[in-house]
Parts: sequence; structure tokens; C-alpha cells
Amino acid sequence: MHKVTPWEVKGTIDYDALIKEFGISPIDEALLKRIKKHTGELHHLLRRGIFFAHRDLGLVLDEYEKGNKFFLYTGRAPSGPVHLGHLVPWMFTKWLQDKFDVELYFQFPDEEKFLFKQNLEWEDGQRYLEENMLDVIALGFKPNKTKFLVDTKHANLMYPEAVKVAKRITFSTVKAVFGMTNDTNIGSIFYTAMQAVPAFLPSVLKKKKMPCLIPHAVDQDPHFRVSRDVIPKLGYMKPASIQCRFLPGLQGMDAGKMSASEESTAIFTTDSPEAVRTKIMKYAFSGGQPTVEEHRKKGGNAAIDVSYQWLVFFEEDDKKLRKIYDDYTSGKLLTGELKQMLVEKLNAFLKEHQKKREQAKKIVDKYLL
Ligand code: TRP
Repeated sequence: MHKVTPWEVKGTIDYDALIKEFGISPIDEALLKRIKKHTGELHHLLRRGIFFAHRDLGLVLDEYEKGNKFFLYTGRAPSGPVHLGHLVPWMFTKWLQDKFDVELYFQFPDEEKFLFKQNLEWEDGQRYLEENMLDVIALGFKPNKTKFLVDTKHANLMYPEAVKVAKRITFSTVKAVFGMTNDTNIGSIFYTAMQAVPAFLPSVLKKKKMPCLIPHAVDQDPHFRVSRDVIPKLGYMKPASIQCRFLPGLQGMDAGKMSASEESTAIFTTDSPEAVRTKIMKYAFSGGQPTVEEHRKKGGNAAIDVSYQWLVFFEEDDKKLRKIYDDYTSGKLLTGELKQMLVEKLNAFLKEHQKKREQAKKIVDKYLL
């Protein structure tokens, strides 16, 4: 049994069940074809079904085809260092920004995790905010088309809109959707109103109704399920979303998503090449057989092999991935060799990322709204 809420993800996630549970729509062939018409090629995260569900994506494309461009909205609540799992929706967002040539509003709700995490001090959250912004910038978002919204820094713009949302959400809705109780602190109860704001703030600022598309990991859906009901009542367009699966933690597919609070499940963007190698060699759950002999005979089980599953996220080349799959499942490729391939792939990526992350320090101001 899985548990998927914005604050907790546990168990082996059944994504088909989640589609029904949340009332989201699967991304089907027809929709992929429609996206392809505009983007030329499909991002590998779409081709491989990692972005697997949506709400009203068709409506956003209708508007786009009529010449009414959407804006993108996504975010990150600073609470720790950024790991590879966080990057997945952001990399895809960057692709969308490039292909559709649209603006991105990136929210940093710097109060969220302070409210939800018992032991996160305010000052630590602020430190992570600065750090996390570097990781987002390092992915190459266009500075002239990307606006960072920091809840406490842009409170003058955001708070008046948040109260309009909050007035239309009852405690019983928040209780039902997020599982809150009478013991929940009142900041947490209000929080979803702040996460709703960037989905229509650009329409407020530009004084015209603009469609919004929110790429996010599926655990954030409850927020937007609530705000999609409210935003039209304020006179703005209902935001659409495109939703992805989680990058599994190193320790296995049934251990939930990668978690920043558990060193051994995550690879951080600032990890050294040696740290990456050690973690993968030591912790990455293997679908290989107990002995080389048996492995040669039976082959590995790619479905439960974390190294292989990570390559599905990070190896863009379909042909290369196919060969790795064939070789691993036939027993030609050993677990150690597969891990080695992943280590090289990640370290090449991280080398570039870390360089850009350093350079980002000088240009943060360009991104702040
Ligand atoms: N709540 C998200 C988190 O825990 C942060 C966030 C804010 C977000 N706005 C968003 C995520 C929009 C996706 C889309 O990190």
C-alpha cells in the first residue's frame, strides 16, 4: 500500500491506482502526438511515461493553438539540499520553456517546510533557500523569461492574493484533502493558499487572463485540486498540470521516493564523484542474481534494479538504454558494470551542474521578480 501526500510519500507506489485516487488523467498517445506537433520531438521523460498524468493539458494546448500562450509554474520549498529526484520535474520544465518559448514562475515557499517540519529552524530554511536557488539557475532557465517568487520576500505581491484564495477554502476542505487535524498549526492550514497564488499572479500583474501549466511530481496534486476550484471564482483561468512519478530512492523501488533527510537514499547535487561512486556501489538496490554464474544464466531484473531505473530517468538516448536493458536482462551485463555506467553518467552530469551552480551565484538577482 502506498501513501502519497504533499508531506509524505511511502510504500510501493501504484500509479494506476493513484490516477483513480486523485482523479487525474493519464497522458495517452493522442495527447503525446499533440504535444509532439509543437515540440518536434518528445522529451524522454514523456516518451518513457515518467510524466504520466495531467489535468486539462488539452485545454492549455487549445489556447496555445489559438495564439494564447500559457506560462509555466513550479516550485521548491527549501528544507535541505537539492537531490537528483528534485531535478527531474525541473529539467522537464526547462524543456517546456525552451520548446514553447514561455515564461516560468518558480515559487520558493520559504515558510512551507518551516511550518511543516518540527525541527527546521527559520535560519536554516533561509540558508537552503539561497542554496536551492543556485540549483534551479544551474539548469539553464532563461533569465529574461524566468521569475523567482519567494513567499516572504514577495509577500507584498502574494499575500493580498492569498487571502482571496483563503477566504474560499474551509477548514473542513483542508482537513479532508490534506488530513489535517485540530492539532495542526494554523500556518500549515493556511499554506495551500500561498501555493495557489503563482498559478494566477501573472494574470494579476499583466491584467490579462493567461493559461497556466504546472509541471510537478504527483504528490503536489492535492494542492491544485483545491485551488483549481477557487481560482476561477476569482476570475482567472483554471490552471492545468502535468505530473511525474518519483525517482526511486537508492535503496529500492518500494522504499518510497528519494529523501533528502536520509543520506543513504539520495545523491545530492553537490556530492563529489567519490561520494556518488560510493553511494551507488554500496546502496543502489540491485536486481542482479546472487552469483555471477546465476546472473549469466538468468539475467538481471531491470524492473527492481535502481541503477537501471535511474538510467531510465537520466540516459536520454533510447538506443543506449535499450542495449543496457537487453544486456542486463540477458545476463551479459553484470550489476557492477551497470552501476559503473550509472556512476559515469551521473558524474558527467554533476560536473557540469556544479560548474554552472558556481556561476549562478553571480546572477541570482536576475531571476528574482
Ligand atoms: N510544495 C512544494 C514542495 O514541497 C513546493 C512548490 C510550491 C511547488 N509551488 C509549487 C511544487 C508548484 C510544484 C509546483 O517542495
